[in-house]
Amino acid sequence: MIEAEKQIAAKAALQYIKSNMVVGLGTGSTANYFIRYLGEAVKNEALHTVKCVATSKASNALAREVGLEVIPLNTISKIDVTVDGADEFDSDLNLIKGGGGALVQEKIIASLSSQFIVITDAKKKVPTLGAFKLPVEVFEFASMPILNKLAALGLHPILRKDALGTVFISDNGNTIIDLDLQKIEQPQRLQELLQSIPGILDHGLFLGFASVVLMGVQGKVIEFTT
Ligand code: A5P
Repeated sequence: MIEAEKQIAAKAALQYIKSNMVVGLGTGSTANYFIRYLGEAVKNEALHTVKCVATSKASNALAREVGLEVIPLNTISKIDVTVDGADEFDSDLNLIKGGGGALVQEKIIASLSSQFIVITDAKKKVPTLGAFKLPVEVFEFASMPILNKLAALGLHPILRKDALGTVFISDNGNTIIDLDLQKIEQPQRLQELLQSIPGILDHGLFLGFASVVLMGVQGKVIEFTT
């Protein structure tokens, strides 16, 4: 059910892609569907001369596997469209991202994109952001002092570990601290606070980035726009 919702949202995003575009590829299970559909569209020549930039090693590898041309971000000056998933979105199309740990690259690529399209299943729509733990990427060598600082601020930080208890390390070699906030009533204020702490690279609040959210629900796609 959820997989079907992700798939139809991912397929619907293809309508935003034209030949000769530079396309940003998101990270996660929904973005993976999009990468596969885009690969098919290029292979069957519905689209041509599409160049891609990837937001993670995993997306880069999948894109190459399905025959897409992936180029380094440093070789281009603009991205036409980026298609990515999200962990939560609200009615203003503000997002929580970073469940997959790729938030730093995802935000950079979103910020360089003329259009940022988000694709989700219906569970991602929330009245208030925060039930999903907010990921924060921090320099590994400062993980513990930053975790203590976030705890002192009442932000309920948890150092991300995998199922075996090993500390998660991002593609950038950093750790992720997840904030168990339940409800983020003032996302802008929280953003300012997090950005003021040295050693925090970035956080998973994507405020004002998305222009469109395509949400799959019960065999249909609902399009939300700003
Ligand atoms: C990756 O870091 C995240 O921002 C993902 O985009 C997000 O976690 C959505 O992933 P799924 O599509 O797997 O739910």
